[in-house]
Amino acid sequence: MSPYLLTRTLPENATGAALRADVLQGLTRTPRMLPPKWFYDARGSELFEEITRLPEYYPTRAEREILIARASEIAASTGARTLIELGSGSSEKTRHLLDALTGLHSYVPVDVSESALAGAAEGLLAEHPALQVHALIADFTAGLELPDTPGPRLVAFLGGTVGNLLPAERAAFLSSVRALLAPGDALLLGTDLVKDGSVLVKAYDDAAGVTAAFNKNVLTVINRELGADFELDDFDHVARWDPEREWIEMRLRARRALTVKVRELDLVAHFEAGEEVRTEVSAKFRQEGVRAELASAGMTLTHWWTDEAGRFALSLATVV
Ligand code: SAH
Ligand code: AVI
Repeated sequence: MSPYLLTRTLPENATGAALRADVLQGLTRTPRMLPPKWFYDARGSELFEEITRLPEYYPTRAEREILIARASEIAASTGARTLIELGSGSSEKTRHLLDALTGLHSYVPVDVSESALAGAAEGLLAEHPALQVHALIADFTAGLELPDTPGPRLVAFLGGTVGNLLPAERAAFLSSVRALLAPGDALLLGTDLVKDGSVLVKAYDDAAGVTAAFNKNVLTVINRELGADFELDDFDHVARWDPEREWIEMRLRARRALTVKVRELDLVAHFEAGEEVRTEVSAKFRQEGVRAELASAGMTLTHWWTDEAGRFALSLATVV
């Protein structure tokens, strides 16, 4: 098996500093909120993979269906020699692209989860021994520096993870992606689509409680990394559909009045019974909105593909 390169573009203490800043800010503001990127330690990445196999969580299956149907078209349209994948996780669905992109020289998976990157890279190299795999441990919202690899470049952002960014973050993020692209390069973007609220709530509040465990994992991360004393049983998992903003919100709701200490931050946070912390938004999209957001960032939507049931879309965009 060929070796792969695993590069950490963030120094380890920068991740710690970012977590401290996010937790301090997020727990002292009203309403309280935490950014979703902190779900993904090794356990969080495993729990996300379990979510993708749940009967209620359709986005992964729907996106895979589109990738299987469209991978050759994507390969023909882009002729990509480098595939950069943001928030690549297990790279499980990416296999369909890697198989179709016959002229591919380099694969650059980018993720904050080191365990997910390492697991994915090893599996992929067994199947594509000639591929240069340059895995980057990095925050895709924090100014990516990419390795020097041959174009054309295809940037893939799958799974609907773009919906986990708030609208202003999304605009800044899409502009930063645009800045990575030269004429002839492309963006492949996965977006979950607006649908009946009851289907969405079930997808984010499954009967087996896996999404609840994923949501509460952020408390385990804060306990471990910042010496906090959150009791997971003191919180309920909440998934709510906001029909105005067209996003799902995941929250953690205190079951009783309680006080939490975060030792490393010298912080004491008091929760009233029923008080909530927002831990994630997962925005759902329509074609017009995706087209407009891409255009605002200087990209043109050239292809829009959905699964048969119309639940999820893959967009291909080029630079204006
Ligand atoms: N693309 C995969 C995984 C989606 S889960 C799929 O479609 O199944 C979201 C992934 O994005 C996780 O692996 C998580 O670790 C990563 N992630 C979340 N926020 C991130 C950020 N700000 N920078 C880099 N990776 C991030
Ligand atoms: C990674 N992201 C697209 C998932 C989503 O559906 O928003 C994360 C997730 N949260 C709960 N379940 C899955």
